Amino acid sequence: MSHNSPASPLTARKSISLAGRIRVPGDKSISHRALILAALTVGETRIGGLLEGEDVINTAKVMRALGAKVERTGEGEWSVFGVGVGGYAQPAGPLDFGNSGTGCRLVMGAVAGCPINAVFDGDASLRKRPMRRVLDPLTRIGAKAVDVAEGGRLPLTLEGARDPLPIVYEPPVASAQLKSAVLLAGLAAPGETVVIEKEATRDHTEKMLTHFGADVQVEQVGEHGRRIVLKGRPELKPAVLQVPSDPSSAAFPLAAALIVPGSDIVLENVMMNPLRTGLFLTLREMGASIETLSSRHDGGEEVADLRVKASALHGADVPASRAPSMIDEYPILAVIAAFAEGRTRMCGLSELRVKESDRLAATAEMLRVNGVAVEIDGDDLIVEGTGSVPGGGVVATHMDHRLAMSALVMGLNSEKPVSVDDAAFIATSFPRFVELMQGLGANLAP
Ligand code: S3P
Repeated sequence: MSHNSPASPLTARKSISLAGRIRVPGDKSISHRALILAALTVGETRIGGLLEGEDVINTAKVMRALGAKVERTGEGEWSVFGVGVGGYAQPAGPLDFGNSGTGCRLVMGAVAGCPINAVFDGDASLRKRPMRRVLDPLTRIGAKAVDVAEGGRLPLTLEGARDPLPIVYEPPVASAQLKSAVLLAGLAAPGETVVIEKEATRDHTEKMLTHFGADVQVEQVGEHGRRIVLKGRPELKPAVLQVPSDPSSAAFPLAAALIVPGSDIVLENVMMNPLRTGLFLTLREMGASIETLSSRHDGGEEVADLRVKASALHGADVPASRAPSMIDEYPILAVIAAFAEGRTRMCGLSELRVKESDRLAATAEMLRVNGVAVEIDGDDLIVEGTGSVPGGGVVATHMDHRLAMSALVMGLNSEKPVSVDDAAFIATSFPRFVELMQGLGANLAP
């Protein structure tokens, strides 16, 4: 399965100070979960602020294919009539998740607890990503994976369990997708499904399950870990959901404001879930001016308006223990680090190798082709910041939205322009990125 749009190159040039107030789109993780969980309730759930990026739209289509009624009622406004836990219907054809690992892996979990067969597929990027990590625990629950492409990859067929079993599971890698897949499968099992995480990862699934009426108990394990216990076979009840702005998308205008001299912008309604804000913490350690203007609760999450001003930054050591709370932010942090003075060492990035691209290699290459000194040392990324970036490179984005946006942000203050080979994949997570950035004063053009 492939992406429909033709490649669209884009170039970023040195920009004058950025200014304005913007609201970036809804959180991608929450948007996927809202659709998937609403489809497991009985009745109508209304969702506001849903991210209408390609990844989430694919999940909406998949929910329809699995029998839920999913309607767009306005901008970001969606209504979902669910089919109940274990109630997904046999889909008529393959489920196409496009570029989205989150959509694919979470739905694998939900399907594993239903007595149906489904073919899972995606684009060339998703077909390279490891699925065995999800299939292993789902097999223990009673699902069966057949016709799996070589190396445990897509396309594959998942036969859901007729009598799903509750399991106790310790994920071998820190992955919210893996945790969520097991919890979603566990919904249909009797008794308690337990996930024990060594490193806590984003907890949107746990929170949203509770919001829909499931019994989920979470306790701290050691300094960084968590034990999550889900009581199976709940009746999930429809609820109203409001999706806050995605901190991982906010990271791009935020980074641009930090590195373009004289900038002063406000980002509205950014989700501040502590399991997602590792980048903000790191940037403050590097000397960034990020002011919390107002902090409140919305839709079960802490949200805040952030005022960001151009800042003189210095390098920092980013510990491996912080990786789960900023796992998607390393490409943009690497760009910021190039504009900082001194060395930034980002530790424990092995999971970056299995994202939409091999993000560790691709991030290093993005910097290298623009004249920045960078090194990969084991699982660590080291950037030598000198306060300025030569630029002049064409960045290969490897079907990876976050690489494309990171490279374009870099070009807003590099000496020579920075181009990307294909900006089309930005639409997977941040549909109006170019217009919003241009509105702040960013010089972006084909
Ligand atoms: C996500 C979890 C992360 C992240 C992805 C979204 C989620 O992946 O990279 O963009 O919504 O659960 P892993 O949990 O596999 O690290």
